[in-house]
Amino acid sequence: MSQFGKIITVYGNMVTAEVDGAIRQNAVAYCCRSDGVRLMSEIIRIRGKKADMQVFEITRGLKIGDKVEFTDELLSLELGPGLLGQIIDGLQNPLPQLAKKFGRFLDAGNYLPALDRTKKWDFTPLVKSGDKVRAADNLGKVPEGIFDHFIMAPFDAQGEWAVKSVKPAGSYQIEEEIAVLEQGSNIRKVSMIQRWPVRIPLGIYESRLLPTVPMVTKQRVIDTFFPIMLGGTYCIPGPFGAGKTVLQQITSRHAEVDIVIIAACGERAGEVVETLREFPHLTDPRTGKSLMERTIIICNTSSMPVAARESSVYTAVTIGEYYRQQGLNVLVLADSTSRWAQALREMSGRLEEIPGEEAFPAYLETSIARFYERGGAVKLHDGRKASLTIGGSVSPAGGNFEEPVTQGTLKVVGAFLGLSYARSYARRFPAIDPLESWSKYKGQIDPKKVAYAHGFLKKGKSVYEMMQVVGEEGTAIEDFVVYLKAEFLDMVYLQQNSFDDVDVACPPERQKKLFEMVTQILAYNFSFPGKDQARDMFFTLTERFRNWNYAPWGSPAMLEAEEKITAAQAAQAAQAAQATQAAQAAQAGETAKAPQTAQTTPTPTSTSTSTSTPT
Ligand SMILES: Nc1ncnc2c1ncn2[C@@H]1O[C@H](COP(=O)(O)OP(=O)(O)OP(=O)(O)O)[C@@H](O)[C@H]1O
Ligand SMILES: [Mg+2]
Repeated sequence: MSQFGKIITVYGNMVTAEVDGAIRQNAVAYCCRSDGVRLMSEIIRIRGKKADMQVFEITRGLKIGDKVEFTDELLSLELGPGLLGQIIDGLQNPLPQLAKKFGRFLDAGNYLPALDRTKKWDFTPLVKSGDKVRAADNLGKVPEGIFDHFIMAPFDAQGEWAVKSVKPAGSYQIEEEIAVLEQGSNIRKVSMIQRWPVRIPLGIYESRLLPTVPMVTKQRVIDTFFPIMLGGTYCIPGPFGAGKTVLQQITSRHAEVDIVIIAACGERAGEVVETLREFPHLTDPRTGKSLMERTIIICNTSSMPVAARESSVYTAVTIGEYYRQQGLNVLVLADSTSRWAQALREMSGRLEEIPGEEAFPAYLETSIARFYERGGAVKLHDGRKASLTIGGSVSPAGGNFEEPVTQGTLKVVGAFLGLSYARSYARRFPAIDPLESWSKYKGQIDPKKVAYAHGFLKKGKSVYEMMQVVGEEGTAIEDFVVYLKAEFLDMVYLQQNSFDDVDVACPPERQKKLFEMVTQILAYNFSFPGKDQARDMFFTLTERFRNWNYAPWGSPAMLEAEEKITAAQAAQAAQAAQATQAAQAAQAGETAKAPQTAQTTPTPTSTSTSTSTPT
């Protein structure tokens, strides 16, 4: 039952109305402009007879005294077949359809249902009359792209229900009744579509699982050094232009998950347009079909109203939870959560709440935690395992990781992939800082070996810093080689060329092999006569490893690159041996007396070979 009230204040996108009847916190209300346009809003605070609402549209044209219609329903989403491949806004309006119907310059107050009511889906029942079902049990399925989309018993159904009837296999529209459930005298008609409030976690499962299966991103630095798990959470903080969006896009294309939901939240419209233009033409590396078939894009650009931005991350996770409920592995990427936090700050300011650090609301950390907590790996009632992984980028002003949004995020996520401006400036992509980042998860490569390799990065950095002071001449050759090894590891392992068709995605078996090859070099006890030779050697190795990285797996080019790597190592070993011999011979020559040298005259090489062989 709707209630009606009257607007008493309009303050930016916050509107306060007075109402006599009972209204519900977080329910949807419509502010009715005098020209008949209804603007969607959400009740965010109730004080006596006053209701504060955040309006998801520009409030221009609203007047004091205008009517407000309060509904009973919480801000909810439509869930059902047809979500995949959609481009929607934070309130689930399908944007392409909206543009088709109302033109490209969208006016406030235009809404469309998210799911196509006319499309028919091939339904196959999975239950029969008399079967007992509980909430989220599968009643039937329809094919959606490459997946089976299960039609589930209503999520809010309490206890056990009996199937009274179920439609036979055939084509049905989503609003048609496909089953009837009964519980005593209660009857429930079920269609393919369900509604669920965005702010309430959707999770009907037997148990939560510890995230233990790695989510392969095919980015070496992530999978090997800072792994992410299916059902885990991670954040990508980075200064402006450090590569957050590009990294998320690469992940969305190559990560080994079933479904990706991208929430572009408060990003610049131009960037989002680029994504929208590009994505439908991309081929899914796993299926060979369009990538859009397993992707959903949620757009709330910086030019769209702030409140809708606030709800867009919840829209993303709710859809993510729905597909997890389907038994799939889902990845939600939010770009960027800082802009979402700014929306929270703006609303909190308008509500005149006591501000916390940097004027963010005091409950900022709770809100961030509540968002990431919706991720997780689960075991469903029928035994299938499914997961929802959440990755959010954070764009702290000036790259200052001490600010509240980054700090609040750090407390709740399982992995921190900090991007560094220095690395992106040096075009070392992905610009994940290997010394700042961390992950609580265990990856596929032995952690001891990973720690060994990581040690070179740390030592290499301190040698580099020392060289800044004492110069290359003042650095011992052993230290210089450590520095070169760290650089080598960085160049051939941490960095990945996103413009190369092969190097853009490095599968686990390839990572393992490369890691073995690289650690062999790191562990090898090189002996160089001088720094120039050392530099030349690592230059050659880097180049040859890069060729290996660019060669398709198992191709002749890859084998050739491998041979060249071995040849370079062998040549270096021979050269080192020769140099040692020469040095030893020279030393022997100096210490020996002149006449003796004259006696043993002819072949210094032959004598030196015999002495140097043991090494
Ligand atoms: N992996 C990569 N390979 C090559 N170039 C990259 C890579 N990542 C980022 N770049 C370069 O850096 C630029 C900025 O990247 P991106 O837009 O992802 O930064 P951002 O951190 O999202 O910035 P903002 O904070 O402004 O949103 C890109 O346009 C691209 O030129
Ligand atoms: Mg960006």
